[in-house]
Amino acid sequence: MQTDRGYKCRITNIVSLTEQEKLFQLRILDPDERNLFRFRPGQFLMLQVPGYGEVPISISSSTSNNEQVELCIRKAGHVTSVLFDAQKGAHVAIRGPFGSSFPMEEMMDRNVILVAGGLGIAPLRAPLFWINDHRDRYKDVHMLYGTREPSQLLFTYQFEEWEKINHINLHTIVEHGTPDWSGRTGMITELFSEIDIDPENTYAIVCGPPVMFKFVCNYLDKQGIPMNRMFVSLERRMHCGMGKCCRCMVGSTFTCVDGPVFDYWSVMNLKEAI
Ligand SMILES: Cc1cc2nc3c(=O)[nH]c(=O)nc-3n(C[C@H](O)[C@H](O)[C@H](O)COP(=O)(O)OP(=O)(O)OC[C@H]3O[C@@H](n4cnc5c(N)ncnc54)[C@H](O)[C@@H]3O)c2cc1C
Ligand code: FES
Repeated sequence: MQTDRGYKCRITNIVSLTEQEKLFQLRILDPDERNLFRFRPGQFLMLQVPGYGEVPISISSSTSNNEQVELCIRKAGHVTSVLFDAQKGAHVAIRGPFGSSFPMEEMMDRNVILVAGGLGIAPLRAPLFWINDHRDRYKDVHMLYGTREPSQLLFTYQFEEWEKINHINLHTIVEHGTPDWSGRTGMITELFSEIDIDPENTYAIVCGPPVMFKFVCNYLDKQGIPMNRMFVSLERRMHCGMGKCCRCMVGSTFTCVDGPVFDYWSVMNLKEAI
């Protein structure tokens, strides 16, 4: 069920990730509300910047951490630019959480492939934290992450922790290397040559631009992973976030309520979804 509950928050920390992206750590001001706040991996919030407007943003933190809500935000236009200039201590508000989520319990005792293109790593962090919190319930976990250039890779400071502590097999690639880049160059689908896929026992979560998840899901389909075991997050322009304004509709589907997380079979059957 969608709630329209709003929470006043303070920005407790801002981590500059690249020239275009920052991680905002928010703390819900009211301690009772903070304790009650719950969300599922894949859900999003409406973030209100007082006096400027409201934008839908994926929750990029751990479901088990009530102390802070993390949002990874790219400077795109009006509201996100104002937020980019905000300082630690500033007040904002959030509404939600909204939308569907990744079926993390269904994936238990299976292999999981997480695929992120560019800013797609923002919605992917919550399922990644979830897997890390329940690591013994998942088999092999691979994370494939690609960006256009090395300087656009986000959360590089967490790579070692994911690999060595959480036993995530991390594979990175960039489209255009630089002289100091010693990793792989090419398209994200090229990373599949590094992993063995057992289609009977594998789920996939794919987040990124539609053109990227189309290529990735088509590749995984050819490897025999059923389309209803691949999950993507669809982004559309949104206003209310709760099925009232029709801004986010694709055909007769509300992407804010029925999505943003869909299995790939549903996406293929949604006219004009990609
Ligand atoms: C479910 C969902 C989750 C999202 N999660 C994140 C996230 O984790 N981090 C993040 O940085 N952004 C995320 N976005 C995109 C974010 O909502 C937009 O970038 C933001 O609304 C732009 O607002 P603005 O006022 O800064 O830009 P505007 O001035 O409104 O627009 C600037 C540019 O951004 C484009 N734009 C606006 N809204 C969207 C949108 N929904 N999708 C794609 N392009 C858009 C416009 O077409 C325009 O070109 C998400 C969007 C949705 C629907
Ligand atoms: S954003 Fe209003 S109906 Fe989906």
